[in-house]
Amino acid sequence: MAQIKAPRGTQDMLPKDAHKWEEIETVLLSLAKNYGFVQIRTPVFENTQLFERGVGDTTDVVQKEMYTFEDKGGRSITLRPEGTAGAVRAAVEHGLLNDALPLKLSYLTSCYRYEKPQAGRLREFHQFGVECLGTREPIADAQLILFARRLFDCFGLDDIRLELNSIGCPECRKHYHAALREYFSAHTDTLCDTCKGRLEKNPMRILDCKSPTCREIAANAPSILDYLCEDCRTHFEKVKEYLDLNDILFTVNPRIVRGLDYYTKTVFEFVCDDIGAQGTVLGGGRYDGLVEELGGKPLPALGFAMGLERLLLLLESRGYAFVQSARPDIYFCNIGDNALKIALSFCDEFGLDGYYAGLDLMGRGLKAQMKYANKIGARFTVVIGDDDIEAGVLNIKDMQTGEVYQSDFASFVETAENLLLQSTIEESLGVENNE
Ligand code: HAM
Repeated sequence: MAQIKAPRGTQDMLPKDAHKWEEIETVLLSLAKNYGFVQIRTPVFENTQLFERGVGDTTDVVQKEMYTFEDKGGRSITLRPEGTAGAVRAAVEHGLLNDALPLKLSYLTSCYRYEKPQAGRLREFHQFGVECLGTREPIADAQLILFARRLFDCFGLDDIRLELNSIGCPECRKHYHAALREYFSAHTDTLCDTCKGRLEKNPMRILDCKSPTCREIAANAPSILDYLCEDCRTHFEKVKEYLDLNDILFTVNPRIVRGLDYYTKTVFEFVCDDIGAQGTVLGGGRYDGLVEELGGKPLPALGFAMGLERLLLLLESRGYAFVQSARPDIYFCNIGDNALKIALSFCDEFGLDGYYAGLDLMGRGLKAQMKYANKIGARFTVVIGDDDIEAGVLNIKDMQTGEVYQSDFASFVETAENLLLQSTIEESLGVENNE
């Protein structure tokens, strides 16, 4: 039979990489917790309307990239292309915004976009995101950006560039749109077909088009920063002031408009050059109109999302030292059925005590069991044979030093766990001394 392969643009997370994902997710979620974010999980699929209204029907995401299909009940369903719309929908639907504000949410989700796959660009990818709902204060923008910077710092990535912009509110946008229309009208013939359609409806989207010709034309388009109203200008100045006060380096890049329609005022991206063309690892900003757009009361909000595949690519390109994958603390090599029964019950005891103990599940002979224990990097091994059972004594072998410790059956678990504790302490002291 022909082999079936994973769909284009998807990646399997293989056991050899599981510890990397686990470490990344633990670091992200625990720092998010320290900054007051609480996890939310929303469905992988939503009603298509959520993204048409939330993300915007003139965006590339909605126009070209959504996985949309009709379900068996004739409803139009879409696999989520991003996490914000679903989180806001859930907050409105469950009345979470009627409680004390701000509401601070975090999530780890898979997202789906029908894009041309390349390094760092997948059709199924994963985002870590946070949303802070209910505040219009510039201090919230600054703290969110500070938090994003700290996430990178946690992985030793303190050189990732922060690019900042303000894209104003609907009021400043009116004037800016008029200026863009005037500018792009002179180039109508050369714009791509999608952008021709965007000229009237949402000319700012042309600035975000991936077509090389549109990009070339957009390079000289007017800058939003010349069209900000007083409120948006003051807000932006305050955000920059707070970032400066905390020594957060940034460059103002008026070309950042973000690919989703809900943004207002502050927008930002963390960008690097070492992972190819898809260098934006994290992006976000304020979206003061989205809660109301999705049927809630008018409430300002802001957030960001980080692409986990891009973060992993970046960490690997920098040779980041991930904590090694789990290896057995202790492995039992058994001769005979009685020994196997004893090993089974010991493994259970170690497991409940928080240690990873292994035994032969393959019916291997003693030599093969020992070879296997070595291969999987067991910290200690214990051979149990009929003689050992008769004598009531077990030998615990330290696989690093070759030293052997004896214990009677009654105190075996305690002895082994003490040895494990001691070896963990020695290992961590060794790491410190090498630092
Ligand atoms: P976004 O910029 O579309 O924003 O995506 C955020 C991050 O997801 C990107 O910076 C990138 O790292 C990753 N990403 C996006 N598309 C792909 C892809 N095809 N393959 C791999 N990684 C990808 C949002 O999604 C907003 N919801 C962020 C946000 C939250 N804004 C406010 N709150």
